Amino acid sequence: MALADWIPRLLRPSLLLGLAVYHFGMTILETIFVHREPSLLFNLSKLREKSFARIWINNGEAMSLEMPGNLDELLQTVHGTVLDVGPGSGEQLTRFDASKVDIMYGAEPGIDLHPGLLRSAEKTGFGGKYKALHCGGEPESLIPALAKASVFKDGASQGVFDEVVCVRVLCGVPRPEETIQGLYRLIKPGGRLIFCEHVINPWRDDGAILARLFQAIYALLGWKFFMGGCTVDRNTKQYLLDAAGKEGWEEVHLESVDPTTAIPFIVGYLVKRG
Ligand SMILES: C[S@@+](CC[C@H](N)C(=O)[O-])C[C@H]1O[C@@H](n2cnc3c(N)ncnc32)[C@H](O)[C@@H]1O
Repeated sequence: MALADWIPRLLRPSLLLGLAVYHFGMTILETIFVHREPSLLFNLSKLREKSFARIWINNGEAMSLEMPGNLDELLQTVHGTVLDVGPGSGEQLTRFDASKVDIMYGAEPGIDLHPGLLRSAEKTGFGGKYKALHCGGEPESLIPALAKASVFKDGASQGVFDEVVCVRVLCGVPRPEETIQGLYRLIKPGGRLIFCEHVINPWRDDGAILARLFQAIYALLGWKFFMGGCTVDRNTKQYLLDAAGKEGWEEVHLESVDPTTAIPFIVGYLVKRG
């Protein structure tokens, strides 16, 4: 990458961080003066959730116009019974072919994002085939929500999804190793885990140490706090590869996108042994 392109790519996340700080401030002001709920100021996790929902409602669409790597083609192939982890307001739904999907469950903990999510499902032809669940992707939240939605039949609580889709979400789930292993268990044999995730800069391989340094600076400046729990330098690639344990994945398709930047992505899919 030419230097004139590279330097702006290293600095661009600071604009996002600035935007997040602005929305956090606005969330505080709205809480006091619009919703008149000053007691919420003492509930920091709720405040951060509201602040992130505000960022996403205002900017999610613009931040989803162009997605990394071959995600567009990949999502077109998604079929059957699908779990979409952290769908936000459904910005990715236009990329799926709704006619190939029998039913899609969206595990979205941000309740303020649900109205937009259901609107997107309607607009993109999913209609009643889209079920929004108020839960996270971590097992203790996801499993009871799936049970309540009657996803588990005949007592089975594993191997129920043809596809599990994770787009820009694993950076923010708690205990990522355990959470990804939980998602692995939910995939049917022969099914796929599809991902598009930003990761720690792979500076020892095809990355860049300066970009890794920028990630560390963004983390120190409060990236996780202001960005709804997003970890800028998570080793999600390793967690995904390890999730199948000793069994190993039957197929690994993984593309590294922009590895020398501060927000490098991995895009691809993993196939569970049949
Ligand atoms: C960056 S947005 C991505 C939205 C959408 N997947 C996309 O790429 O357009 C991250 C989403 O993950 C959700 N999220 C946060 N914590 C989560 C968790 N523990 N489990 C599942 N989703 C979570 C957020 O509410 C938000 O909607």
